Amino acid sequence: MERQKYLVTGGAGFIGSHLVDALLARGEPVVVLDDLSTGRLENLATAREQRHFQFVHGSVLDASLVDTLVSECGGVVHLAAAVGVKLIVEEPLSSFIINTKGTETVIESAHRYGSRIMIASTSEIYGKNSSGPLKETSDRVLGSPSVPRWSYSTAKAVDEILAELYRREHGLRSTVVRFFNTVGPRQSPAYGMVIPRFARQAVRGEPLTVYGTGRQSRCFLHVADAVEALLSLIDLPDAVGETFNIGSDEEISILDLAERTIACAESTSSVRRLSYSEAYGPEFEDMERRVPDTTKLRAFTAWQPQRNLDDVLADAVADARSEMRQQVGGLVVEGPANGEAGNPAVQTVLAGPCSV
Ligand SMILES: NC(=O)c1ccc[n+]([C@@H]2O[C@H](COP(=O)([O-])OP(=O)(O)OC[C@H]3O[C@@H](n4cnc5c(N)ncnc54)[C@H](O)[C@@H]3O)[C@@H](O)[C@H]2O)c1
Repeated sequence: MERQKYLVTGGAGFIGSHLVDALLARGEPVVVLDDLSTGRLENLATAREQRHFQFVHGSVLDASLVDTLVSECGGVVHLAAAVGVKLIVEEPLSSFIINTKGTETVIESAHRYGSRIMIASTSEIYGKNSSGPLKETSDRVLGSPSVPRWSYSTAKAVDEILAELYRREHGLRSTVVRFFNTVGPRQSPAYGMVIPRFARQAVRGEPLTVYGTGRQSRCFLHVADAVEALLSLIDLPDAVGETFNIGSDEEISILDLAERTIACAESTSSVRRLSYSEAYGPEFEDMERRVPDTTKLRAFTAWQPQRNLDDVLADAVADARSEMRQQVGGLVVEGPANGEAGNPAVQTVLAGPCSV
């Protein structure tokens, strides 16, 4: 029997590429559509060696391309999006358009061909609601629409509404997944993600920059556990028409996270506090707490995270070290990551500005 092909939009990205590897490992044929704006072809190095894999360079805004690809696939996982606080704040208009029109284009094609679709949403949906743990039905508490941060939350809410209305009115078989902070290998530090940024600062011996008071807390799920959650839902009949939080419930303040990262990297880095306005401009708003309630996901599936924050940090530090080795042309710095030890040729690179 021929297996169903999956279209993964944004499959060259962080979560997408791990999902692609997992689907291929299960023997499922996969097509990736990605414009490589934040994704990287290197993320698909393993996938590209597989026979049942195809990469298409293009945008989810290209309706005719999306339509052709959806028509050839039985299942769609829509992950493509403009992602990361930094990118959303710096390029709010194009981000909003990709995150609304792009999703609408993919949904329309999924509806046209009767494909089942899984749509990536976000914990940003809950806005400034800092109560917790947050259930899928918890309220959205948003600031003014003129604050760019809330445009990402609103765009993803539009996506969720589109999915639900297409389901109700046209029978679209859709499932929405709301990722809370997800981390692990291949995550780019360039768009404001805190753990990859801390890990790189720690291995370079640079100060870890903590925004605001540092008392704000978050939970971080390893990407491998996020992918397990996706796989458990991807063709579960009961998941059609449902929305699920995907995240860890191990809560930590950002200040403690900085200290844990420094300890994990055995670094001598210090911690430097920066106000939100210095980091992101005067309009920036953030939430104090972000903790998911994953009772629903656990009730529908047998999902349980297999990794804790120590595993997450160990992987992030290993990833940062491996990237640093590549940047210095294969020279490896041993010993404490204080930016002063080691080969002078290496130091020049290590002393350079952090990419964030
Ligand atoms: N990583 C997290 O913690 C997190 C949290 C909440 C939600 N999400 C959601 O999960 C999804 C995946 O995020 P990620 O963390 O892997 O980010 P990512 O940036 O690594 O992946 C997004 C991918 O989409 C691609 N892309 C962007 N615009 C595109 C376009 N117009 N056409 C085609 N491809 C395009 C990018 O090149 C990239 O490969 C996103 O929808 C994001 O909103 C992620």
